[in-house]
Amino acid sequence: MSIKWTSELITGIDFIDRQHKAFVTIMYRLLEAMKNGEGKEELPNTLRFMEFHAIKALKAEEEFMEKIGYPGADFHFTQHKHFHEELAALKDMYSQNGYTVSLPLTFQRKMGDWLHHHVAKTDVILGDYVSSNKKIMEEIS
Ligand SMILES: [Fe+2]
Repeated sequence: MSIKWTSELITGIDFIDRQHKAFVTIMYRLLEAMKNGEGKEELPNTLRFMEFHAIKALKAEEEFMEKIGYPGADFHFTQHKHFHEELAALKDMYSQNGYTVSLPLTFQRKMGDWLHHHVAKTDVILGDYVSSNKKIMEEIS
């Protein structure tokens, strides 16, 4: 799955869209590095970003859902939990085997899946809920 910013990823919730753009940027940087034969140097940066920023972003989303009493929160949280597990598995692979050519490819594939299966669907549904709820829109604007 390709990793690029497209309109299908837009949730309409500013802070979430900004976080997703940063996610796409960092994954694109890894892709470019791989093309230039610099994947080995870039991968630790990508993992660091995921560990700090992406995890923080998921937490911020979860707090937001709790704050607005989002009815789809449980299902959404389950997918976030799965992301944590995928990321932990990738980090384990890296710490056990070090850099392998297949690792950034696996990483790209899993993060691409995340964008297309979670961001473009579950996060967009959250965005639709927010934009159709006038009271929430007033609170967050
Ligand atoms: Fe999410």
